[in-house]
Amino acid sequence: MILPIVAYGDAVLKKVSVDIEKTYPDIQKLIADMFETMYAASGVGLAAPQIGKNIRLFIADGTQIDTLKDSGFKKVFINAEILEEDGEEWSYNEGCLSIPGVREDVMRLPKIKIKYLDENFKSHTEEFDGIQARIIQHEYDHIEGVLFVDHLSALKKQLIRGKLQNISKGKTDAEYRMKFPLGKK
Ligand code: NI
Repeated sequence: MILPIVAYGDAVLKKVSVDIEKTYPDIQKLIADMFETMYAASGVGLAAPQIGKNIRLFIADGTQIDTLKDSGFKKVFINAEILEEDGEEWSYNEGCLSIPGVREDVMRLPKIKIKYLDENFKSHTEEFDGIQARIIQHEYDHIEGVLFVDHLSALKKQLIRGKLQNISKGKTDAEYRMKFPLGKK
């Protein structure tokens, strides 16, 4: 089932999410719905707050990106915790399904070590770098109540303020189903 994606301006995107237990109701259905929702919107990552749930769950599928096509980087991250970030900051042009029509360069560290549970609640500690790390950092931010635009300088943020306000007011034409805090205009 395709779920509506919560738009910028909704309080659910600004909250720190909580860990879940294996007994969380219909978790496998929720994960399947999130993948379906992400693909329908041509995304490479989606976090639970973006479908209105403040739980520590996000998914990623980098195989949609040319350079990661054969990487097998399709994963579910539950109760994730970034243990280390390392290397020299690099810039990458990020976008977010909750912020349609806005893309900006964001600086992040290139290497991470992360501990998480997979869809079977099996624990992993893994290292990622490059685009894979980037996708994880962006989605991890979501479960911490942080958006990529929060990383921008005050000046850059000022320049996109109007666009952000329009999105929060439902004045946008995303090509996928969205849920706006004040309804669609
Ligand atoms: Ni996002």
